[in-house]
Amino acid sequence: MTQVQERESLDGRMLRNAFAKFPTGVVALCAHDGTEPVGMAVSAFMPVSLEPPLLSVCIQKSSSTWPRLRQCGSIGVSVLGREQKDHAQRLAAKEGDRFAGVEMTQLPSGAIVLGDTHAWFECRLDASHDAGDHIIVVLQILDLHVEQEAEDPMVFFGSAFRGIRHRGGPPITTPQFDPPIPPTRKRA
Ligand SMILES: Cc1cc2nc3c(=O)[nH]c(=O)nc-3n(C[C@H](O)[C@H](O)[C@H](O)COP(=O)(O)O)c2cc1C
Repeated sequence: MTQVQERESLDGRMLRNAFAKFPTGVVALCAHDGTEPVGMAVSAFMPVSLEPPLLSVCIQKSSSTWPRLRQCGSIGVSVLGREQKDHAQRLAAKEGDRFAGVEMTQLPSGAIVLGDTHAWFECRLDASHDAGDHIIVVLQILDLHVEQEAEDPMVFFGSAFRGIRHRGGPPITTPQFDPPIPPTRKRA
């Protein structure tokens, strides 16, 4: 067995590089604050619970967007597809209009969802937990929409956007795996 030397410290760059080896999707958190749309791109997204329906995101404490979003009450979480790399970059920009050229819909609650996304969730804040330089935010899902035909996800890997394309040739994905759903949430 290979012996690994104990490290004295883990620096941010090393951690960032290591975390980047875990492929994720990208979601857009957006809402209208009463004056203008507010939004940000987030890759630290995690489905949490079916009953009650919950999801979570991790937000940097340094974010100036999150305090504005959390005050909105309702927040849209849109799952971006392969063709929405520009949206993700724009929604992460420090300067300029994050919504320029982005098709969006404002729900009656004030949550904003983007057009042509693979799925969206209308959420409200359930809890937030302190976690180092981030906050783990748990959102309660009030409503959702799924684009059943959407097949080409956006993947963020190695700090780059990648597209997985279903070309209609030999399948590159495994057969669909449907984890069992608790009986209370099974639908006819
Ligand atoms: C692909 C991608 C993924 C990101 N993921 C996260 C994330 O998970 N959490 C987070 O707080 N910021 C994330 N960001 C950064 C935010 O989108 C945004 O750039 C940051 O909040 C800007 O700072 P501000 O909130 O002060 O405007 C990500 C940016 C990109 C481009």
